[in-house]
Amino acid sequence: MRPELAKTAIILIFSWLQNGAAGNSVEQKIYVELNHTVPCVRLLNATHQIGCQSSISGDTGVIHVLEAESDVDWVLSSGPNPPYMVLMEANFFNRAIMMRMKGSPRVAGVAVVIPKSGPPQGFSPHNSCPNEGTGVYSDSYGPELAGCNSTVWNPLGNSLSYENFNFPVFSLNDDNETEVIRKCFREHNVVRNGSSPQFPLCAMQLYSHMHAATDTVTCMRRNNIQNSFSVTPEVVCDAINDYNVWGSVHPLNNSAKGHKEGESVVIAAARIDGRSFFWDVAPSAEGAVAGFVTLLAAAHALRRVTVEAPPTRNILFTFFQGETFDYIGSSRMVYDMENGKFVINLDNIHSLLEIGQVGLRSGSRLWLHSDPVSRRRNSSVDAEVEKLVSNLQSVAKNLSLSLAEPNVSQPLPPSSFQRFLRARPIPGVVLADHQSAFNNRYYESVYDTAEHLQVTYPPGLSPEEQLEYVTDVAKDLAEVATLVARSLYLQANGSEANLPSITADPMTVTQMLYGFLVQSNNSWFQALTSPDGFTLEPHPLQYYVGVSGPPRPIKVTTRLVQYVLANLTGTATNLTQSQCQNPENLEGENKELWSYLWVRGSVSSNSSQGEAYCVRASVRLSKAVSPAFELQDYGSRDYSTWTESRWKLIRARIFLVASRELEMLTLGVGVAVLLVSLLVTYFISSKADLLFTSSREPTSTTY
Ligand SMILES: *[C@@H]1O[C@H](CO)[C@@H](O)[C@H](O)[C@H]1NC(C)=O
Ligand SMILES: *[C@@H]1O[C@H](CO)[C@@H](O)[C@H](O)[C@H]1NC(C)=O
Ligand SMILES: *[C@@H]1O[C@H](CO)[C@@H](O)[C@H](O)[C@H]1NC(C)=O
Ligand SMILES: *[C@@H]1O[C@H](CO)[C@@H](O)[C@H](O)[C@H]1NC(C)=O
Ligand SMILES: *[C@@H]1O[C@H](CO)[C@@H](O)[C@H](O)[C@H]1NC(C)=O
Ligand SMILES: *[C@@H]1O[C@H](CO)[C@@H](O)[C@H](O)[C@H]1NC(C)=O
Ligand SMILES: *[C@@H]1O[C@H](CO)[C@@H](O)[C@H](O)[C@H]1NC(C)=O
Ligand SMILES: *[C@@H]1O[C@H](CO)[C@@H](O)[C@H](O)[C@H]1NC(C)=O
Ligand SMILES: *[C@@H]1O[C@H](CO)[C@@H](O)[C@H](O)[C@H]1NC(C)=O
Ligand SMILES: *[C@@H]1O[C@H](CO)[C@@H](O)[C@H](O)[C@H]1NC(C)=O
Ligand SMILES: *[C@@H]1O[C@H](CO)[C@@H](O)[C@H](O)[C@H]1NC(C)=O
Ligand SMILES: *[C@@H]1O[C@H](CO)[C@@H](O)[C@H](O)[C@H]1NC(C)=O
Repeated sequence: MRPELAKTAIILIFSWLQNGAAGNSVEQKIYVELNHTVPCVRLLNATHQIGCQSSISGDTGVIHVLEAESDVDWVLSSGPNPPYMVLMEANFFNRAIMMRMKGSPRVAGVAVVIPKSGPPQGFSPHNSCPNEGTGVYSDSYGPELAGCNSTVWNPLGNSLSYENFNFPVFSLNDDNETEVIRKCFREHNVVRNGSSPQFPLCAMQLYSHMHAATDTVTCMRRNNIQNSFSVTPEVVCDAINDYNVWGSVHPLNNSAKGHKEGESVVIAAARIDGRSFFWDVAPSAEGAVAGFVTLLAAAHALRRVTVEAPPTRNILFTFFQGETFDYIGSSRMVYDMENGKFVINLDNIHSLLEIGQVGLRSGSRLWLHSDPVSRRRNSSVDAEVEKLVSNLQSVAKNLSLSLAEPNVSQPLPPSSFQRFLRARPIPGVVLADHQSAFNNRYYESVYDTAEHLQVTYPPGLSPEEQLEYVTDVAKDLAEVATLVARSLYLQANGSEANLPSITADPMTVTQMLYGFLVQSNNSWFQALTSPDGFTLEPHPLQYYVGVSGPPRPIKVTTRLVQYVLANLTGTATNLTQSQCQNPENLEGENKELWSYLWVRGSVSSNSSQGEAYCVRASVRLSKAVSPAFELQDYGSRDYSTWTESRWKLIRARIFLVASRELEMLTLGVGVAVLLVSLLVTYFISSKADLLFTSSREPTSTTY
């Protein structure tokens, strides 16, 4: 009797648990998954953690929609059903409200509804003084300029992206999905006639638990412990990293690192990354794309003249990755140059021209920023900067652009150039559309989009027609690219007589703007990229650098810049696919001087597939991993220490919850049912011979 009783009881408990508590079929009926959300994740540096996370089992709260300031009080004090999951319109997503939420135990999490365009007054969740700790200005270098003392570059910056939140924050990017949540809220949670809403209530659950905590020093130590004691190591954080892209006018022998005798190089730089509050969301139209597209167009414009009338100096185009996170790409390239690990070293650098934010100029005016400290301290640097400035100004006279220098005492804006100046005084200029504070009202935010840059098209155009439609922005940026290309040519000691033949092509610029801002899946990008390893998407690219390295692939934006640069500066060859991979023994080909890229080729009207071919270009990738990780100096003050936490599950869903009392009641009933069934089972088993006749077939019970 006894064992049978125990068995029955266990089966009953299991069937109750299955139906009442954790049944999959039940779960599917109750939960509505949200499929278009993006979390804010945890990032760490030498001393801090920033970003957001949920508890390990997700955070749940009753949904409350912020529609007016008074709703904030409902959430923070008067509402009867805490904790709340706060659904807010983007205009409430500001520092004042988020910091109040942050201090309250009544907030389980926040979901922000992101509209298509930003608020007219601007919004930037970034610092007001980007990368202030790792630029050139410090106590020993222009202390009066350090920490944005004299010029605040991003006055709209509210630093939300650098706060640490102990609750999840997600963005909602799909209007239909947001409407589903609002409907659930309206039907169940709205306060009617002043009385509290009745259960069941609409609740939201957000999962974004992060494995790493405290700071990079701590998480790298945990990574190492895991690696040395475990067979299947569990990494908790990864260094933020990817690759820089560079190319040169005269090919540089990539096997010979360090100083190159007789090589004098003008560096032309731009950055290719950005960020926003949310993970992997960074449209960076003005923040990065306008600048690097301008530089790509300038490289293209220089292609013919540098073959026909090569200037005596070389020009090195570099596209830095990870600059947003304390200058990862440029600090690594400078470090490599200092340590003889790059194709040239610092002695080879003649001068530097950086393209900053150039897409939002007012009128014809652009600004030439230079560093007052090196100019003051070193007269030869000052003379070279003046030459560079006068080159740029003489070129601008023939274009519809006017250039000006800001006040002599103004420091450089945040720029990769600062990392070169940290190493030594190098003459250089940063070209930008702003005199002091950024023109970009949406710096490092989700609103720095194609629309913000006014990359828009007349209605009714097909994607292919948009690709070829020359926008006004494209014309403006082509003008800037012409300025950059001609100035670089003069700077490289090219003859002034050749300048008129150097002109950037607005059609190429417009195609790049379309590909980099609207959709990468277009016929041009398809034709110039490799047949494998590329997924081109029918929506805008994001420029958050992220983490790469095996098994994760190189960031697609990096590879696109690489392939576009190869298309614009390289040569189509007639090599076969296997020769393209291994051109060593072929006459005139050399892997040390060139990269060989196998690309799809354009599709002609009568075939569905392009004719693939091999492009030869002096375009290469170089590591953009902060030297701090190379040196294993995770507490470094000189180099970027940013890491991104790992996580298991990112998920958002809504469902109806019963009241706590109701839940307790359900549980109580469950327990009562269990007890009763135990008693009944006991009773039945003990009286079995009375209740069932012996003629009955013995059945094996199946449950
Ligand atoms: C900021 O600059 C002013 C002069 O421009 C100087 O008097 C002041 O000490 C500086 N502040 C800091 C913190 O360096
Ligand atoms: C790490 O980031 C925090 C938050 O932005 C900042 O206050 C701190 O200075 C940074 N630490 C270092 C060493 O740069
Ligand atoms: C939203 O729903 C409408 C109608 O149901 C549909 O036409 C539209 O495509 C949906 N939008 C999105 C972004 O899913
Ligand atoms: C998300 O996708 C799932 C499965 O496709 C679907 O059942 C659910 O309704 C979707 N969520 C919303 C809010 O549309
Ligand atoms: C609110 O109160 C008014 C009058 O007191 C009543 O007519 C109405 O039905 C109430 N509405 C709800 C939703 O209870
Ligand atoms: C490139 O440099 C390497 C190492 O210095 C040398 O062996 C090789 O001959 C060079 N190649 C060319 C094409 O100059
Ligand atoms: C000025 O800078 C150049 C390098 O750009 C350097 O060779 C020279 O020694 C510097 N002069 C002084 C006085 O620091
Ligand atoms: C400006 O244009 C004139 C006429 O085309 C040309 O002779 C001159 O070299 C140009 N100067 C510059 C700096 O481009
Ligand atoms: C340039 O800066 C100096 C010192 O900050 C200031 O006195 C001067 O008025 C400024 N000049 C202009 C034209 O803004
Ligand atoms: C600049 O070019 C001229 C001829 O075009 C040449 O004579 C001169 O040596 C070059 N200067 C440098 C520094 O390369
Ligand atoms: C670049 O792409 C265009 C369009 O597909 C093509 O015509 C051109 O040949 C390409 N250039 C190179 C060097 O591959
Ligand atoms: C490629 O073209 C060159 C001339 O441009 C020719 O000498 C060579 O034989 C060709 N190679 C192949 C594989 O067709």
